[in-house]
Amino acid sequence: MLEEINQAEREALEALEAVGSNDELQAWRSLHLGKKSQLKQQLKNLGRLSPEERPVVGKRTHEIRQRLEASLDARRDELEAARIEASLAAEALDVTMPGRPVRRGRLHVSTRTLRRIYAIWAEMGFQVYRSRDVESDEYNFQLLNFPRHHPAREMQDTFHTTTDDVLLRTHTSPGQIRVMRENAFDADGTPRADPDPIRVILPGMCYRYEQITARSEIQFNQVEGLAVGRRIRMSDLKGTLTDFARRMFGQDTRTRFRCSHFPFTEPSAEMDIECFLCGGEGCRVCKHAGWLEILGCGMVHPVVLANGGYDPTVYSGFAFGMGPERIAMLRHGIEDIRQFWANDLRFLEQF
Ligand code: PHE
Repeated sequence: MLEEINQAEREALEALEAVGSNDELQAWRSLHLGKKSQLKQQLKNLGRLSPEERPVVGKRTHEIRQRLEASLDARRDELEAARIEASLAAEALDVTMPGRPVRRGRLHVSTRTLRRIYAIWAEMGFQVYRSRDVESDEYNFQLLNFPRHHPAREMQDTFHTTTDDVLLRTHTSPGQIRVMRENAFDADGTPRADPDPIRVILPGMCYRYEQITARSEIQFNQVEGLAVGRRIRMSDLKGTLTDFARRMFGQDTRTRFRCSHFPFTEPSAEMDIECFLCGGEGCRVCKHAGWLEILGCGMVHPVVLANGGYDPTVYSGFAFGMGPERIAMLRHGIEDIRQFWANDLRFLEQF
């Protein structure tokens, strides 16, 4: 009898060694310690033993039971420790490994040029003012002295929307009216007695309904500039723009002003800079003229001042508009304006 239960104990302990999971642990428990286990059966049969045998077997059975339960607990702890060990090993981080290199992005050449232009005008005391891309016919044309059907509109082929008189701005000049009105009137529309002088640049995207070619795009940036105050004269315009050109293209840059026409400035001009590639000798970039056209400008037309709420008998001002893509093309020798929107990394990564 004793021999039998000792044998059962050995088998149970051996089987416990092979247990590898919690489920197996449960199964082992009901097999060796449960109601139907050999141990329980032995206890039931105690009554059939002789009075001498009975206490010996009873004591031994009790010992075995305690031993198996302790072993079960120990095995459970072992399994849990092994599980934690394994998950730590699986999630281990090697902090000595070299990092993966992160490729640095870069700014688009238009953005770089724009930021350079902002910085220069900021140094000269001009604030950045943002105006809207979707404009009304009134602001984009009429208030700037382009009446309906005026031939000057031909130069700015327009994207109209399906709503009457709502269009995509063809230039940043409508922003001139918006800045002037914001300064000249209180929020409730009452005119201010002595509106503040204005010195702003207005950058933004412009849109024209044109054939896309190497020289013209349907979408491009412009940077408008506007200065309004008392006693602003043509010499202020020329001095300020020449100063800009020197900061942008180098201290020795020469400029020249050619007569031009815009409905919203009078007089109007275009500013050229001496070709920085050939120094005026004539080359491919300047098409052998020695000069490069950089921007349009002029004294703000009295009608435009009045439309903005500034009395033209008291105030005067100058305005200009330049194209950053055009400036970038000249600076970097880019021959096709379509590159700016092509998203070709071979092009973009050069800047
Ligand atoms: N808006 C003009 C254009 O797009 C440029 C310009 C701006 C000219 C301001 C004079 C003054 O061609």
